[in-house]
Amino acid sequence: MKNDLINQSVDYINKSKVIVAFTGAGVSAESNIPTFRDDDGIWQKYNPQLLEINHFMANPADSWKVIKQIFYDKFANANPNDAHYAFMELERMGKLRSIITQNIDNLHQKSGSKNVIEFHGNSNKLVCTNCHQGYAIGEIDLNKDIPRCPKCFGILKPDFVFFGESIDQKIHNLAAREAQLCDLMIIVGTSGEVFPAALIPENAKFYGAKIIEINTKPSNYTNSLVDIFIEGKASRILKEIVNLYKQKYF
Ligand code: OAD
Repeated sequence: MKNDLINQSVDYINKSKVIVAFTGAGVSAESNIPTFRDDDGIWQKYNPQLLEINHFMANPADSWKVIKQIFYDKFANANPNDAHYAFMELERMGKLRSIITQNIDNLHQKSGSKNVIEFHGNSNKLVCTNCHQGYAIGEIDLNKDIPRCPKCFGILKPDFVFFGESIDQKIHNLAAREAQLCDLMIIVGTSGEVFPAALIPENAKFYGAKIIEINTKPSNYTNSLVDIFIEGKASRILKEIVNLYKQKYF
């Protein structure tokens, strides 16, 4: 059964002209980065309010304490897994146009993928909430309770999207355009619960794309817009798909 679905997915990939991937935390789960909403997810352990923008501005030390634990201690040591590498190979073979990722862990880029649209920003950068100056993570001492702007002493915030913040308009438009252009979208490891990101696959479907989904369990998309659902871990399944594509068509 699973082999049939893998064969079918490979045929879709072969027939499609414009393929776009849409990824979430599940693609990095096998790089030892916990997801958000699974039983062992980040929001089981930490209060998501800590990443709400008004809460952050009112309680920066509390939020920063947890931000460092979740994002900087864990992410710094993470490496891409076979799922990231499979997408990189598909791009190199000229079969993957772009990856729209909700992840802020940089692992798609670390694996060598070039055209990555970071819908929720990136944890490698910080931005001053007062003067809006940006900084690379290495420029700032994160051991301080509240990292502050060297120029104006404003509170620094990781340059990813907090709850209550809007998506950068350019990034949003770019992702929406990719969704409209593609004739195949491959969704991997996202629950589809966070908006507006969750609308990207809806957009792709609306404009006629076929949808393949890989997830360890059904998501919000599985029964509404997915053509092929493959249940299982991203690394093994994507590797099998890309290897079979190479064997048959490359
Ligand atoms: P979630 O934690 O909501 O969903 C993770 C999904 O990955 C679930 O559907 C799991 O079943 C699936 N999954 C877990 N392990 C997997 C594996 N090895 N292979 C394949 N699938 C697996 O994470 P997201 O959907 O990414 O926002 O969450 C969206 C946003 O919510 C995140 O970008 C984050 C969070 O608040 C920001 O950081 C701004």
